[in-house]
Amino acid sequence: MCGIIGIITVPGAFNEPLGSIIKKCLKNLEYRGYDSVGFAILGDIFVVRKSKGKIDDVAFGLGFDKYDGFVGIGHTRWATHGPPVDKNAHPHTDCLGRVAVVHNGVLENYLELKEILRRKGHVFKSDTDTEVIPHLIEEFKKRGFQPYEAFKKAISVLRGAYAVVVIDLDEPNKLFFARNTSPLIIGIGENAIFLASDIPAFLEYTNKVIVLEDGELGYVTSRGILIEKLLKPGELDDELAMTEIVDYKSRIKVLDWTPEMAKKGGYPHFMLKEIHEQPGALAATIAGLKEEIDGIVDALLKSDKIIFVAAGTSYHASLLGALYMNNLAEKWSMAFISSEARWWMSNIGEEDIVIAVSQSGETIDTLVAVREAKRNGAKVLAVSNIIDSAIPRESDFVVYTKAGPEIGVAATKTFTTQVAVLLYLSLKVAERIGNKRIIEEIKNDLAKVPELASSVLSRYEARIKSLSRILKKKTNAFYLGRGFGVPIAMEGALKMKEIAYIHAEAYPAGESKHGPIALVEKDFPVVFTSIGEEEELLQSNIEEMRARGAWIITIARKGSRLFSISDEKFEMPNANEYVMPILSILPLQMLAYYTAVARGYDPDKPRNLAKTVTVI
Ligand code: F6R
Repeated sequence: MCGIIGIITVPGAFNEPLGSIIKKCLKNLEYRGYDSVGFAILGDIFVVRKSKGKIDDVAFGLGFDKYDGFVGIGHTRWATHGPPVDKNAHPHTDCLGRVAVVHNGVLENYLELKEILRRKGHVFKSDTDTEVIPHLIEEFKKRGFQPYEAFKKAISVLRGAYAVVVIDLDEPNKLFFARNTSPLIIGIGENAIFLASDIPAFLEYTNKVIVLEDGELGYVTSRGILIEKLLKPGELDDELAMTEIVDYKSRIKVLDWTPEMAKKGGYPHFMLKEIHEQPGALAATIAGLKEEIDGIVDALLKSDKIIFVAAGTSYHASLLGALYMNNLAEKWSMAFISSEARWWMSNIGEEDIVIAVSQSGETIDTLVAVREAKRNGAKVLAVSNIIDSAIPRESDFVVYTKAGPEIGVAATKTFTTQVAVLLYLSLKVAERIGNKRIIEEIKNDLAKVPELASSVLSRYEARIKSLSRILKKKTNAFYLGRGFGVPIAMEGALKMKEIAYIHAEAYPAGESKHGPIALVEKDFPVVFTSIGEEEELLQSNIEEMRARGAWIITIARKGSRLFSISDEKFEMPNANEYVMPILSILPLQMLAYYTAVARGYDPDKPRNLAKTVTVI
């Protein structure tokens, strides 16, 4: 997916050319996947260079390192409108080459704007939707608008999703920006201000950020920031765009993320690093929870129903959350895939709480579900890893996981930390309603979970690596579990599917004989995730599979009777069953990772997937 960087500096801010800094920032966004690269830099001269290809090759070919200046923008493009060829790479410019624009997102009305601009004599050089932006700015300047007013007016007529950063030679000491739906963040450095689609882009230079909100636009200079809110959509007339100034001071946040967190630190892939970071991420998340929880627990206690909305991996964490709320907190609770939630919202009202789980905090399906829940009067609690992202901002309560930046597209450490948060919340509600003994046991095991996770990771990595050499030849797999094991089976299958491209399906084990078992034949891989008390029931499911020649991989607690009827065994430490899911997913994350690598794929950049999904 596309990546954006913009930088404006005081003279001498860096001891290397701005082109090198832009290249470094773009390298930090490389994990998003892209096909073309480009930059524009203004110094003694104004240069715009772009090409299809990888950052290192393009930067070398186009000599990024030799260009210096005080303001610059860079972009990695992932083709949407038009093929990945040089002319479609960003930045895009106007007819005179005085305005350069980088853009993430999709403009819905670009065809009609392009047609109008063409009729006015503008000449387009690319197939992209983005190119209408520089031409619109040029058009409004021609009509007499000042450069910044022309930019605002241009933004006001765009419909769709955008994060935009612009250099205009007629106002060279400013970098203009705008955000709607696609994330954009300001980074405030000592001698430079950054704009980026993702915090890791500039983390090496600053951890002081402002996360922009939808409908905000403005400019940064080397020393200052102006943020405005667009008050209404504009037309192609001569009225100025209607905006009002935003007081952003209280929104400046200093993150506890370090530059090392956004680097591979010796691991071949971010995903493997992030799998191994889970003990630390769990410890930080659990430690951080103590401060923020009381008001939330009151609201959960008072609520009638607790509804989870989330997508993908966060949905799997939510399924566990709903089970915890039902069984521990004794609250009626259910989890919905956020894109489907609208069909379940009609009976949700003021007395209910909706928990929106989203590591990025920007997933549009989940955001839409949050808005629908709020319209119905429900209170919303967000569980997210990204401070001030859209979903936390629109929610009544927030709990942050403290997983640090997750760069691999496949969610790992954000999943286990989400589950830890949801278990902790359920425990806190349960504590208020009694049942002390079980609570103490779970609390003790949750406190030990970082250490237990660490032991599972180190114990099984080598075995899983060799297992992946068998699995890499398979085309299908089933993942089966019961109870708390079902979300883990679902998450394990999703990981295998999305990075190793093996068709992996998860079912509640009891359901397998109602259809899916028809597919099972000799050596068909079936992964069983047993959490504890459902063992007896799973035993017959394993037998059914074995009778058809399936190859059985079982994850179960130490001493489980299931191991004697399984081909591959992963023994989990003896933790309470509420805590077990956090441990049981670890071998499955590693299995997917090593199988992807064994099949020759890059697990950090799964095909067709984006880390943050801002389209419905
Ligand atoms: C899978 C994965 C996705 C996300 C989903 C929701 O590994 O990462 O399925 O879980 O797109 O994303 P968030 O949690 O950002 O809302």
